[in-house]
Amino acid sequence: MDVKEAVRMRRAYRSFVPVEITVDLINDLAECAQLTASCFNNQPWRYVFVYDPSVLKEMHTALSSGNEWAQKTSMILVVLGRKEDDCIIRDRMYYQFDIGMATGAMILRATELGLVAHPIAGYSPKKTREILGIPENVDVIALVIVGKHSDKIDPVLSETQVEAEKERPARKKIDEFVYLNRYIEKGIKK
Ligand SMILES: Cc1cc2nc3c(=O)[nH]c(=O)nc-3n(C[C@H](O)[C@H](O)[C@H](O)COP(=O)(O)O)c2cc1C
Repeated sequence: MDVKEAVRMRRAYRSFVPVEITVDLINDLAECAQLTASCFNNQPWRYVFVYDPSVLKEMHTALSSGNEWAQKTSMILVVLGRKEDDCIIRDRMYYQFDIGMATGAMILRATELGLVAHPIAGYSPKKTREILGIPENVDVIALVIVGKHSDKIDPVLSETQVEAEKERPARKKIDEFVYLNRYIEKGIKK
């Protein structure tokens, strides 16, 4: 699979069948983060790979309502970081950018390996901290639900989620977010 194909194939699916999680898979994904660029090569990313069934079950209590589908996954990748671990240039903090890039590389690699890697913001950082022993000074930036896509739609999905399972949610047109040579304010009616 080339990069463009992985970008096209990646989807935030919500229906899963169980898949075996191996240490080789974890190392493979971790290597993609390891090789990612970061400001001053600071490598601010930290990840907890949760795949032990009993810990996964505890993590279900951290999921927000609407994300019940994530209970069927075989692994949750917990994305962590601290702003102090990366460049801070005046008001610019780079940790979330760098951690996003590293996580993006892992998501594309998971796609290439035939897996779904679905990032979510709908979870409780407080419960995640309690369950996994993450200290207060470490941000819980996102969870990535990693699993094997099922072509049978999970009955817990809402109507909108079922639609998204069948067809990729609509995207902005390229000229709505791309500027050539100079920035021109768009989308503001005068
Ligand atoms: C930061 C972030 C947070 C998200 N949070 C959730 C979430 O809590 N629940 C959910 O079902 N999907 C969540 N998504 C998935 C998006 O809804 C999905 O990526 C978007 O609808 C586009 O669909 P596609 O990824 O299949 O192209 C999140 C995605 C991102 C990047």
